[in-house]
Amino acid sequence: MHSRRALLYMPGSDRRKIEKAATLGVDCICMDLEDGTALSKKVEARAVIAQAMKELDFGNSERCIRINSIGSGFEKDDLASALAARPDSIVVPKIETAEQVKWVSEQIESYELSNGLTLGGIRLLIGVETAKGILNLKEIAEADKRLDAIIFGAEDYAASVGARRTKEATEVLYPRQAVVAACAANDLQAIDMVYIDFRDLEGLRREAEQGAGFGFSGKQVIHPNQVAVVQEAFTPSDEAIEYAKRVVESFEISQKEGKGAYALDGKMIDMPLLKNAQKVLERARAAGKR
Ligand code: COA
Ligand code: MG
Repeated sequence: MHSRRALLYMPGSDRRKIEKAATLGVDCICMDLEDGTALSKKVEARAVIAQAMKELDFGNSERCIRINSIGSGFEKDDLASALAARPDSIVVPKIETAEQVKWVSEQIESYELSNGLTLGGIRLLIGVETAKGILNLKEIAEADKRLDAIIFGAEDYAASVGARRTKEATEVLYPRQAVVAACAANDLQAIDMVYIDFRDLEGLRREAEQGAGFGFSGKQVIHPNQVAVVQEAFTPSDEAIEYAKRVVESFEISQKEGKGAYALDGKMIDMPLLKNAQKVLERARAAGKR
């Protein structure tokens, strides 16, 4: 699976920002047709994205296009023009039911079939960011094999339940952790909310580290300055990797000695700690660190 520590949005109508994004070495670039693009620019944005996809070198960055939500009236034409641009992945916001996931995946599959592309090659990322979407998370997360990731949108979620957003973000603790659980149960990546105060890098670092600590695999970003902070927060540190390696090695030895639980540096280690250490090493590998 593509590493998606940072997923950077920019308005699809803004060629300059797409060009800039291509130079940043960000894991994932998401050209947006939805809320980042003004209503008056929806049609123009499709053309700008198509042109940029043809002309620009995105290096190793994943190329995603976010379409408008299902039921917006834009989704069919957005998807048709997005697919014709041959992105790595499609992002669909405000998913509320498993049927919506299946509908998009079927549209993509018929495009793949009629263009001789590998079936399942174009990946699907979805936003779950409403009360209804959170209630249906289980079915949504299980809906389709094309699904790689669920993206949590805090601003939309707060709007949908009438919550007031705060720096502490306790008002979105439940949906964030629900998304992490649904993703973990289905081998999906969980991508955390945007930190909209893009000049406050210390606050961003804190929130990104909290999200990584919750089990998210990445975070959405909206400004170039946010990329490095977020990619770092979602890459295990050298110390964490060293410790994880020691847990894995010592666990093997203790198993051979017939011990399920043992002590390392004065702390108990048993199976769940081994699994956690393996996850750390997996993330390090995904980030190209091992
Ligand atoms: N992607 C790529 N480049 C971006 C960028 C982004 N998301 N946001 C800003 N930049 C570029 C600017 O074009 C500018 O480049 P330049 O110096 O070559 O002109 C540089 O980074 C500095 O930008 P800055 O002046 O600090 O920000 P701004 O006032 O131009 O823009 C926002 C602020 C919030 C409007 C802008 O960051 C943005 O559009 N973000 C994405 C919004 C979005 O897509 N939302 C929907 C999903 S949540
Ligand atoms: Mg949203």
